[in-house]
Amino acid sequence: MRLTTLLSFISLSLAAPTFNNDNLNTRAPWPNGPLVVSGRWIRDASGTNLTYAGVNWPGAGDVMIPEGLQYQSISTIVSKVKSLGMNAIRLTFAIQMIDEIYSNGGKDITLQKAFTQALGSTNGPKVLNQVLAKNPQFTASTTRLQVFDAVAAECARQQIFVHLDNHISKGMWCCSTGDGNSWWGDTYFSAANWTRGLAYMASHGKTWPPLTSLSLRNEPREPASGPAKATYNWQTWYLYMRQGAEAVHSSNPDLLIFLSGLSFDTFLTPVVRGTALTPGTTKFSFDDFPGYGRTKLVLELHNYETGATNCNSLQSNLYNNGFEALTTSGAAVNQVPVMLTEFGLKMDAIAGTYKGVYASCLAGYLPREKAGWFLWVLAGSYYVRSGTVDYDEGWGLLTRDWSDWRSKGYVEVLKGMVRGTLA
Ligand SMILES: *[C@@H]1O[C@H](CO)[C@@H](O)[C@H](O)[C@H]1NC(C)=O
Ligand SMILES: *[C@@H]1O[C@H](CO)[C@@H](O)[C@H](O)[C@H]1NC(C)=O
Repeated sequence: MRLTTLLSFISLSLAAPTFNNDNLNTRAPWPNGPLVVSGRWIRDASGTNLTYAGVNWPGAGDVMIPEGLQYQSISTIVSKVKSLGMNAIRLTFAIQMIDEIYSNGGKDITLQKAFTQALGSTNGPKVLNQVLAKNPQFTASTTRLQVFDAVAAECARQQIFVHLDNHISKGMWCCSTGDGNSWWGDTYFSAANWTRGLAYMASHGKTWPPLTSLSLRNEPREPASGPAKATYNWQTWYLYMRQGAEAVHSSNPDLLIFLSGLSFDTFLTPVVRGTALTPGTTKFSFDDFPGYGRTKLVLELHNYETGATNCNSLQSNLYNNGFEALTTSGAAVNQVPVMLTEFGLKMDAIAGTYKGVYASCLAGYLPREKAGWFLWVLAGSYYVRSGTVDYDEGWGLLTRDWSDWRSKGYVEVLKGMVRGTLA
């Protein structure tokens, strides 16, 4: 009785949800990691199940720093994420950022250089000055990585997990089959630079308390042309996923490692069902990730079936594409956590796309399956996208100047989804 009273007193008086039941006098310090996988669940250090409900914050565009800082401070942007009840961001980065550190004698390049390189000598300095006005802790000689550090520090302050995502090799808008970043060996996608970049970020991320996981590569896809096209298959995928995972694990053994599937990360069926990784005969095995296969690997999928007209068929696609791994039914041989790390829709408040089958179906499905997810996308706008400076992102949760929600109606749906997922 007394214990019960004490417990309810404590849980009512503490704002943060993390509570270590093993010791009534102390609360496990957030984030209470490292996170570990057990079957289809992810757990914190106290053994409590945990998943992510969050949003993508792009940092892999041409400037190669997190977007939106010419309009708002980092703390304002993180507060917006927090106000939705979300507990995580998927922060994207480009391998080129690390390549440039190596070719610059180990020193990262400055914001001055990064903005001029990406936006030219007129717009570059202009937008940089806006960034510095909104974020006065930075100067023109602050480096790109120091901006990532500041985002991580603010996420630590507001208790938001950081999931790093290698989105692309060359810093630019992603993804198409002809963008030179589609597959290992494609024009800009050097496997050696990639493993080096993953190792660098995993290691650097040890200084970021909220960093709990890392995606090896966003949306592997068939190159439109070139010699890499002939190697687009599950066998090659497995070869490189194992190399990437090893690069991350040996640099930072605390991180969960996310594997994404073929065809723009829309399916992982052979991994889940334990069938041959063709054209070879090898099957996915946790033992091929020695010492961490069963405790650190997570699968991630993307879904953009925005024109879906039937929720049952959308759900069955998700299930067959890999969410089956959350169950012990069907043909799933491997039980492993699966997250939908990208889905998204037009944030048109008046037309109300969010009222359609796609958005409402996912809003029910993901919380019900206790599957983690990240909406695409928080931005707002991009410093530059495909040559357009200050590109307005119609799929962005935030308005062009990152000050308000584009669709207040969808934000209410999203808040419910967060509550359902994290309950
Ligand atoms: C937490 O994980 C366990 C398996 O370890 C599972 O049986 C249980 O249903 C999960 N709890 C919740 C609330 O999801
Ligand atoms: C790999 O990184 C080096 C710098 O270390 C760079 O010169 C080279 O262009 C990069 N390769 C690709 C394919 O981007």
